[in-house]
Amino acid sequence: MQFASASHSSVDMNQILKGRRMRRNRASDWSRRLIRENDMSTNDLIWPIFLIDGVNKTDPVSSMPGVERYTVDMAVRAAEEAAELGIPVIALFPNTDPDLRDETGSEALNDNNLTCRALQAIKAEGFPVGLMTDVALDPYTSHGHDGLMAGDHIINDETVERLCRQALIQAQAGSDIIAPSDMMDGRIGGIRAALDNGGYENLQIMAYSAKYASAFYGPFRDAVGSNANLKGDKRTYQMDPANTDEALKEAELDLNEGADMIMVKPGMPYLDIIRRIKDAFLSPTYAYQVSGEYAMICAAAQNGWIDKDKAMLESLLAFKRAGADGVLTYFAPELARKLNGK
Ligand code: PBG
Repeated sequence: MQFASASHSSVDMNQILKGRRMRRNRASDWSRRLIRENDMSTNDLIWPIFLIDGVNKTDPVSSMPGVERYTVDMAVRAAEEAAELGIPVIALFPNTDPDLRDETGSEALNDNNLTCRALQAIKAEGFPVGLMTDVALDPYTSHGHDGLMAGDHIINDETVERLCRQALIQAQAGSDIIAPSDMMDGRIGGIRAALDNGGYENLQIMAYSAKYASAFYGPFRDAVGSNANLKGDKRTYQMDPANTDEALKEAELDLNEGADMIMVKPGMPYLDIIRRIKDAFLSPTYAYQVSGEYAMICAAAQNGWIDKDKAMLESLLAFKRAGADGVLTYFAPELARKLNGK
């Protein structure tokens, strides 16, 4: 075939291509499906859910269009929906009553706190859904930090001791996956030992191994009510967004301390970290598409600037391509409904 260029000089494309035409495989929908390397399935989803006190109420998160906080009874309904949609796991995050927040986050150690009540209520229904719980003090502290404070300093070892107790309390209430998001040193080893000593040697741990000090958590902090409280930032414990080798070190330590699964957070700006961790350790690896990522897609779609469904699917597929085995995403129920044809 001859190709006429703008200058009317002709180029012999067959000579150039020698039969190598990449577009052949892309020519039809069936062929594109046949050569597709990665796919998103409901089995890849973890749905993060926010909890509030009260009965039969939902409360919209204004910075996360379509996301609601649920009272415990409504969270039970959400878990039922997750089961019906085939979503394997839901992750619970409490918005603790401001009156119950204090300097040490003592409500975290109350075995009747919002998270524990939700765990018990959902567990009682026996849905085929795993329940994941966040281990960190920030939803319970008056200063919004994930650990205990001495002046401006976040104290590592005493915080870990508290996190071990928090994890045990969540285990007793019915958690299936303990997910420490605090970034203290040694917390995975401490929590693994505490769980084992408590008879929970089969409980899984998903470590937020590479959690960066990120601007993309803003809407989440609105959702759990810790934004206004937060004094300073979290850069003395969460990672510097400039680093990658350090993320591998964190993941290695967490795996050696007993983590069953590794998480990278935020998601889309850190696809390189997912790929490196997956390649280095060949362990179950997850991405957290965080609140700010969700909010950006929704806000652009609301303005008519991008197609929401397409951007949602493309953003999630990117995690699979980067090597993630699954994704925590606020889009989970919406995507699952689409995949289920609902
Ligand atoms: C805190 C925690 C955060 C998120 C999950 N657990 C916020 C933070 O570290 O300040 C963020 C999740 C999101 O933005 O969707 N332990």
